[in-house]
Amino acid sequence: MLDAIGEVIDELSSPNDVVADLFAGSGSVSRFLSQARTVISADIQEYSRVICSAVLNPSNSIQPDIFVDQCRSSTMHDALIESCTEVLEYESEAISRALEGLPLQLCEFLEEASLIKSADENYLNCSGLLECALKASHKKLMRLESKFEGLCTATLYYGGIYFSFKQTVAIDAILYEIENSASRDKDTLLAALLSAVSNAVNTIGKQFAQPIQPRMSNGQPKKGIAAKVKKDREIDIFEVFSENLKKYVGLQGNKLPHQALCMDFSDALDQLPKNTRVVYADPPYTRDHYSRFYHVLETLCLRDSPTVSRTKIGGSLRLSRGLYREQRHQSPFCIRSQAPQAFTTLFSKVSKLGASLVLSYSPHVVREGEHPRVMTIEDLTALARSHFQEIYTVCPGEFKHNKLNSRENSFEQKPHGEILIICKN
Ligand SMILES: C[S@@+](CC[C@H](N)C(=O)[O-])C[C@H]1O[C@@H](n2cnc3c(N)ncnc32)[C@H](O)[C@@H]1O
Repeated sequence: MLDAIGEVIDELSSPNDVVADLFAGSGSVSRFLSQARTVISADIQEYSRVICSAVLNPSNSIQPDIFVDQCRSSTMHDALIESCTEVLEYESEAISRALEGLPLQLCEFLEEASLIKSADENYLNCSGLLECALKASHKKLMRLESKFEGLCTATLYYGGIYFSFKQTVAIDAILYEIENSASRDKDTLLAALLSAVSNAVNTIGKQFAQPIQPRMSNGQPKKGIAAKVKKDREIDIFEVFSENLKKYVGLQGNKLPHQALCMDFSDALDQLPKNTRVVYADPPYTRDHYSRFYHVLETLCLRDSPTVSRTKIGGSLRLSRGLYREQRHQSPFCIRSQAPQAFTTLFSKVSKLGASLVLSYSPHVVREGEHPRVMTIEDLTALARSHFQEIYTVCPGEFKHNKLNSRENSFEQKPHGEILIICKN
């Protein structure tokens, strides 16, 4: 879609104007637009700010090989490995046994081997040997954590569940070195780490919405679980971090004063400069909150020891299986009753700023396995009409402008994945 977005924005602005990308997510659009214009990106999630900052203002002063060697051979890495000796050994044994055809130890490990969860439940759901390993490592990690707050975040929260303990120990060692690096380099280093953990995570589909489930609904271990677990959990975090870091460091920047903000779209709109000519907006359009799919990235960026949400599992209130942050962002754009007001705020603030809006949204076609859209294109354009003089749509791939004068214009049946609604001031 980038070319179509670029063409539309070229029509609406001149090269010296500022363009805002308000729901910037992965930063792909911000990066593309920043090559020829000043971009202000915003998103409610800190991990998005980190990535946008890295792609808008890349730091080229980092020497990837030296930095990665420093992390790998750091005393913190050694201390973390030492603290995790018991769980590292337990995990490696569970995988070897599963590969030999004895998968039960691995199944239990994948379900219960979270250090914070097992401690919270007083090891009630763990067998004796797993309890011993978890308790021993937890005790040593908490001692380290009390000296260096946040040091063990990845290992305590996600070790055993989303990653192998070997991987979380590497992630924590890298995070520690990042914290102690020059501030101009931090976002680039962190963005490369976010890419690395996204490459390595041991889930189906490489998201963070749900940990891997080792058993079928009848309780039997799934076939092939050992091979899948081994493949993901053997990924060397330092190596993938190094590969990703080289990519980020190799990005060409320019001298334009781009900015990456972590804030709600409405607050971002209040502080955009007067010469913002176009606002590009790509809000969520289904009930799925992005914060559920990326909560691990958010916690690795914030390292704020979040409280984990609880859910009823088998009659008792346990920490959520996915170990979600309790205060994970709930976007009004994902909630049917709140979306119209959120769009009204978006339309009215962009219009008051005197800018044009390029709104990316998906038509209401429900295919198998997809969730319905929160708003229809018709309802959206009806709302936009009270704030803008001219509204038309562009279907990327077709580059066809559709005049929207009445409600008869139906997009419901069209096969487009995404359309751009242009609202001109
Ligand atoms: C469809 S994604 C954007 C994808 C983006 N265009 C890209 O290229 O990756 C929607 C984004 O909106 C963000 N978001 C949701 N509610 C928000 C709000 N109230 N304010 C700011 N950002 C929000 C989410 O965190 C998510 O990153």
